[in-house]
Amino acid sequence: MKALSNMTNMANMINIEVNAEHRYTVSIGSDWREEIARITQKHSKIFIVAPQSLRDLLALDGTATHSIYYSPDGESQKSYETLVDIWNSLAAAQIGRKDAIIGIGGGATTDLAGFAAATWLRGIDWYAIPTTLAAMVDASVGGKTGINTPAGKNLVGAFHSPQSVSIDLSFLSTLSDRDFSAGLAEVIKTGIIADESILQLLESAEGVEGARAHSADLIAKSVAVKARVVSSDFKEGKLREILNFGHTFGHAIEKFNDYSLRHGEAVSIGIMYALFLSESLAQLPSTQTKRIAQLLEKYGLPTKVSVGTFEALFLLMQGDKKVRAEQLRFVGVSEVGKPVWFEGVERELAKTIYERILQ
Ligand code: GLY
Repeated sequence: MKALSNMTNMANMINIEVNAEHRYTVSIGSDWREEIARITQKHSKIFIVAPQSLRDLLALDGTATHSIYYSPDGESQKSYETLVDIWNSLAAAQIGRKDAIIGIGGGATTDLAGFAAATWLRGIDWYAIPTTLAAMVDASVGGKTGINTPAGKNLVGAFHSPQSVSIDLSFLSTLSDRDFSAGLAEVIKTGIIADESILQLLESAEGVEGARAHSADLIAKSVAVKARVVSSDFKEGKLREILNFGHTFGHAIEKFNDYSLRHGEAVSIGIMYALFLSESLAQLPSTQTKRIAQLLEKYGLPTKVSVGTFEALFLLMQGDKKVRAEQLRFVGVSEVGKPVWFEGVERELAKTIYERILQ
């Protein structure tokens, strides 16, 4: 991938443009309170969705023009029940076509808030203020919104881009090392598919503390890649699928564990799966697989699966959105920065790869 031409650096703020169904800016280094004030000037009413766990930190009071909806924490908020509750609350707050929703939280919250915005009155404006590393580098950027259903993750959703994404780096200090590292899995994924300098930065950083010190740089590099990909393939015709590297197996792991693992932790295992598959199908040198395994482990991310889970994981992979004509499809790499697509991966090979990442 080429130099990051979609990025501008102004007075401690890095702005990255995304050109999807409309243009919008991802601002790294903004202040969330100032952002809400800015958004408030543009709309007569705003409806804020944030998870319960941020209630004390945000200390926001509802007013006649600002409604606050606190959603359940974690992945469970991406449910039909919560969505219906939000629709009812939007109706009660009389949110109209010119009003807007703001999603403040991790990826589950921005996915949910964005989907509420996509579906309310056939689509109203929304703004993302991500508070986790995973949401900053991935979920809040790109316009994928949605909820989970018993059949799988993100099977119900809409492409509905935010009006802006405002990244306030101060939220990162509220994250445990485990949550920060889970976000690093998406950063590492981005490095593998498109920007080796991300991997080099993380290889040279002194553990999680060291990586935290490079947060702005890591986020900027990751968002720049995502912005470039989304700007050329918003609706995931093909290129955008590279962002799902590690996610076919990762989503199956996540669902199999009933969302008890962090998304990034499941993706970390999925990355290992995709790398071993790439060794078999795209001659990825095994030294690269070892290199990435070391990097994931350096940041405390899991790289193995438990014995006896293949049948269930295979079934879950068959429910993945990327399956076409019942054939498993994966994204791999032939080398760092060179994505490749694997169509029709056979069950036997899928099982052999699974056996390579057993505990
Ligand atoms: N998280 C993958 C994508 O936004 O396409």
